[in-house]
Amino acid sequence: MQKFVTKQIAILGSTGSIGRNALRVIETLGPHYQVTALSAHNNVRLLARQAERYKPECVAVTNPDRVESFRDLNPDPDIEILAGPEGLIQIAELEGVDTVITAVVGAAGLPAVLAAARKGKRLAIANKEPLVIAGELLKKETQINGAAILPVDSEHSAVFQALQSGRHEEVERIILTASGGPFRQASAEEFENVTLEQALAHPTWDMGPKITIDSATMMNKALEIIEAHWLFDMPVEKIEVLIHPESIVHSLVEFVDGSVIAQLGEPDMCLPIQYALTYPARVAGIAPRLRLEEMGKLTFEKPDLQMFRALPLAYDVARTGGTAAVVFNAANEAAVEEFLAGRIKFVNIIELIEHCLDKHDVKTTVSLEELLEADAWARREVTSLACSV
Ligand SMILES: NC(=O)c1ccc[n+]([C@@H]2O[C@H](COP(=O)([O-])OP(=O)(O)OC[C@H]3O[C@@H](n4cnc5c(N)ncnc54)[C@H](OP(=O)(O)O)[C@@H]3O)[C@@H](O)[C@H]2O)c1
Repeated sequence: MQKFVTKQIAILGSTGSIGRNALRVIETLGPHYQVTALSAHNNVRLLARQAERYKPECVAVTNPDRVESFRDLNPDPDIEILAGPEGLIQIAELEGVDTVITAVVGAAGLPAVLAAARKGKRLAIANKEPLVIAGELLKKETQINGAAILPVDSEHSAVFQALQSGRHEEVERIILTASGGPFRQASAEEFENVTLEQALAHPTWDMGPKITIDSATMMNKALEIIEAHWLFDMPVEKIEVLIHPESIVHSLVEFVDGSVIAQLGEPDMCLPIQYALTYPARVAGIAPRLRLEEMGKLTFEKPDLQMFRALPLAYDVARTGGTAAVVFNAANEAAVEEFLAGRIKFVNIIELIEHCLDKHDVKTTVSLEELLEADAWARREVTSLACSV
């Protein structure tokens, strides 16, 4: 009988929507899946509760100003506390850890994701932004160091599962599905006057605020096109987007013989998280069961590229390569922050992204330093422009 080696897991961003779901999944997978490290940025109260329950070896509090509050809430001397962004890298590199779930939001996760790849870990990647901005670098480190990348994003998990039906060269196209967000049927005038509350009300998925806004602008799908390009080594011309408001078909792969293989499930992240942890095995878990007979109709339509300008931009960005993707992502992160803070309108988000891409002088060969420089430039540009819109 095959001996099961216990998996030691670090969760980067355990206090977020993905992080909390990952803990629920791990708990039901049994004693062979152990939580070794956790991280939070601001929410030290929740981190303290998680630490008490899961008894990790160490935790990272990435916002240095919150470390003392955490210490007060969790004085357990057996749990090592690592502080600041460096702490996230340290837990990603921990000797005993074999699996790192990356569930931090935004480009902030990049150094730790790279560090985990350099240490040859299994990376269960939810945090798509590092792949988008540094896909080439991350793939290189993964290959050199024998690391593995398993997608957690539901669409990419679906594609990953569908791809097992054929060979890479037999793929005709990847079809990423998108719910279309809350403004799929909005008029141009309604779109112009979207409020924060409306943008945060996603029709099918319950997620963190940044990705929820990204879904409303369809920037999330734009990032996912580039994510799929790197994950599956596929030219963007072979990656298409279809609106599927019910969020049941999580994505599809069409093969050269015309067969289309899809993965279906309820809109719930537990299944893709679990599959990234148990792959290549499938085990019973907490994911809700799909009852197609209760579903009614499943519908599909083409996205409106004039309304959701992030989608065509993603193809241009991927074809341009170099520092274009980092500017695309950083401008979006900064603009979403401005929108969440009530300083700009919803429609300004895409305008600021377009402005940054127009103004940016793309560098084609990229080091981590150049990526970080371009990232900082785009954020500064958005912040200064946001004051004048
Ligand atoms: N939610 C979903 O269903 C879903 C689906 C697919 C992909 N994703 C991707 O998964 C990632 C996480 O999404 P989410 O919805 O779980 O986000 P979220 O709920 O906002 O959680 C973000 C996590 O990152 C931490 N964090 C925030 N800023 C940080 C920083 N500067 N440095 C280090 N950690 C920081 C947060 O800590 P505190 O809360 O303690 O401040 C929290 O643990 C995103 O890249 C998203 O695109 C999410």
